[in-house]
Amino acid sequence: MIGSATTNGAAPVSITGIGYEVPEKVLTNAELSTMVDTTDEWIVGRTGIRERRIAAPEEALSDLCLPAARQALEEAGIDGAQIDLIIVATVTPDMMFPTTAALLGDALPAPGAAAYDLLAGCTGFMYGLAQAYGMVAAGLSERALVVGGDILSRILDWSDRSTCVLFGDGCGAVVLERVPQRGFLGFELGADGGGGIHLSLPGSGSRWVEGEKRPGLVHMNGREVFKFATRVLVSSANDLLETCGLTIDDVDLYIPHQANVRIIDHAVRHLGIPEDRVVINVDRYGNTSSGSIPLALGEALEVGRVANGDLILMTGMGAGLTWGSALLEWTGGTKP
Ligand code: ACO
Repeated sequence: MIGSATTNGAAPVSITGIGYEVPEKVLTNAELSTMVDTTDEWIVGRTGIRERRIAAPEEALSDLCLPAARQALEEAGIDGAQIDLIIVATVTPDMMFPTTAALLGDALPAPGAAAYDLLAGCTGFMYGLAQAYGMVAAGLSERALVVGGDILSRILDWSDRSTCVLFGDGCGAVVLERVPQRGFLGFELGADGGGGIHLSLPGSGSRWVEGEKRPGLVHMNGREVFKFATRVLVSSANDLLETCGLTIDDVDLYIPHQANVRIIDHAVRHLGIPEDRVVINVDRYGNTSSGSIPLALGEALEVGRVANGDLILMTGMGAGLTWGSALLEWTGGTKP
């Protein structure tokens, strides 16, 4: 069914708690311009980014996940023992195994929970939401914790000005449960492995790339990713709206992946959504990969931008190349 699928007829499931966490250290464009040949003017003009957060050397992803998850559980009014599924979407786990999800389950603690990490680039949180939705709606899981987060600063080439200025570290977590009504209305997910080479991490897995001078560091063809991103942010959202029998006029809050203000502006123009319904925080965090959408949603809720019954459209895109959208009728934390 996926590509685009409506949840029509399935049990209503929603987000009942949310939390987020970013490292304390702020890295401004001015500081970056002492590290590589760049300027604040170039970065702001081409990306809209003014600063980003950078994890301390001793900080690993699970250290960001833990406070975000605790906040989400507290908001949902449950404790770790009531969580039976943990998905951490990331490309920068603490290590390949044990998974960050399993480490998080131990730290919370959530002793009964199945736990795994999910790899879908910056779209990972959207994939994680869809998976957890399916398990909760089907009754396989009672309460799921979905975390999206990355410490991309660990896998950047800090001498490459075309990538290191774009990214930052951060994470967000949500609890998914059955609710009496509303919740997720549909998902649209997709991937194009043929375009994967445009955003890659060579030397990070079982395929050794002969002559690779920078193993385990991000390689990106910015122009190709830009073209891909502008295309799928619009097509994924429109496909999902159509499948759900809705239009962009029905959307109260639009949360696009926070990669670049120019990519977001393009999507906003082509979707035809008023700017006051769009969440943008890329100026303060840069691209936090899987952390981007839950971080933006968490902040939007915190400042009172979401009312009970509001329709939220979220679209992510990233390495793979992958993309994914979700439509969520906000339940204001209503519990069964
Ligand atoms: N400071 C100053 N100059 C720079 C910098 C920099 N930080 N980076 C590149 N330049 C230079 C280039 O060298 C080039 O110079 P040249 O013309 O002398 O060769 C010039 O600026 C223009 O470079 P372009 O790559 O054409 O610039 P563009 O307008 O395409 O912007 C950017 C580059 C910002 C990377 C853009 O292509 C982009 O945003 N792409 C999408 C990136 C993205 O979103 N990636 C992640 C998405 S998926 C995920 O989230 C993991």
